[in-house]
Amino acid sequence: MQNFDYINPTMIKFGRGQITTIHEVIPKEAKVMVLYGGGSIKRTGIYDQVMSSLDGYDVVEFSGIPSNPEYEVLMDAVSIVREQEVNFLLAVGGGSVIDGTKFISAASVYDGDDAWDLLTKQEPIMEAVPFGTVLTMPATGSEMNYAAVITKRATSEKLLMQGVGIFPQFSVLDPTVVSTIPERQLSNGLIDSFVHVLEQYLTYPVEARLQDRFAESILNTLVDIAPKVKFSPSDYGSASDYMWCCTNALNGMLHNGVPQDWGIHMIGHEITAMYHIDHAITLAIVAPSYYQHLIGQKEAKLAQFAERIAGVTEGTPREKAVKAIEFIKSYFLSLGVTSKLSDYVDCFDQCAENISKTFKERQWLGLGEKQNVTPEMVEQIVKAAY
Ligand code: NZQ
Ligand code: ZN
Repeated sequence: MQNFDYINPTMIKFGRGQITTIHEVIPKEAKVMVLYGGGSIKRTGIYDQVMSSLDGYDVVEFSGIPSNPEYEVLMDAVSIVREQEVNFLLAVGGGSVIDGTKFISAASVYDGDDAWDLLTKQEPIMEAVPFGTVLTMPATGSEMNYAAVITKRATSEKLLMQGVGIFPQFSVLDPTVVSTIPERQLSNGLIDSFVHVLEQYLTYPVEARLQDRFAESILNTLVDIAPKVKFSPSDYGSASDYMWCCTNALNGMLHNGVPQDWGIHMIGHEITAMYHIDHAITLAIVAPSYYQHLIGQKEAKLAQFAERIAGVTEGTPREKAVKAIEFIKSYFLSLGVTSKLSDYVDCFDQCAENISKTFKERQWLGLGEKQNVTPEMVEQIVKAAY
């Protein structure tokens, strides 16, 4: 096992009815900004629960945070936070609203010239306005981690910011919200969380048996519950498992002491920035081709995946690795998502060439756990996924 530092200060309030208890964890004198997206929280009744719990607080609202949250929109909220001296933020939404709130919380106390530098300079975020979240859609794990992914519309960039300053103070996970989520978004969450685990597991063995078993238990649970979540989202038991799997897939526990990859996400973010394809779908497009190209260096862990997740008992390590990739592809397909870029956009080689060019410009010359996935290989991976 490799050395690691680990902290996770986010309080989780899990279960039915927990949305109505948020006043217990927000200071009474706080001036609260409630942030949300396109309005689904009003249709689902989550807004009413939040507002009644905030009765008596000084509240301002900021709505309209889009999927793949945009710097240009978020900066409007930063101005309001500063002008009105807001000192607590409450994100009510999925990964986009939560990530957008993380950016707003850090940008509001940033004293540089342009808060976009928080994304480009890659310095750890240490200070931010305190915030909590009410998760309306499990998928990204943003509710219990210190990362956010923000898009700049003007330049079609989609970049990551990180730092312990943007851990939520608390997150409410009420599985009853799952019953309101459209089927497409349920598939997205089942894919995104699955790939989060893969990016921290499909590397090479380092004798981290517990982390391997943690990862495998999440993968096995997701495979078990996926049909129930997709077709019976009102089932409280599977909704609870689903929500808790998504959170644990990216709250830091899995990557302690093990190598990580994240190449699939880095390529996927570019596809979303260029063509506005849902985050999870870009992962389903890239993952099989990525693993096929790196089957040599990932063979041992792919074979372990085949044995422990896909139930493969026969064959050489290479044959098992091939079956693991087939299994991953069929999991996506069982959720109605194909792994062919051309099913979503007509871009031929242009997409692959653009990504490779962008990575070269950014000096992202070696992705993956061994930093050996060059822009040229990225181009081949995306071309093969077309
Ligand atoms: O805009 P609203 O009204 O909120 O509607 C949303 C949105 O249209 C809707 N929705 C959410 N909860 C609902 C609901 N509809 C009905 N009932 C509910 N209960 O779902 C749509 C998609 O929401 P969004 O938040 O965009 O999806 P997701 O949670 O998948 O977040 C995607 C974003 O997270 C980033 C992605 O790149 C993308 O920008 N990620 C963040 C990560 C992190 N911070 O750690 C890691 C991830 O890998 C990912 O990159
Ligand atoms: Zn993701």
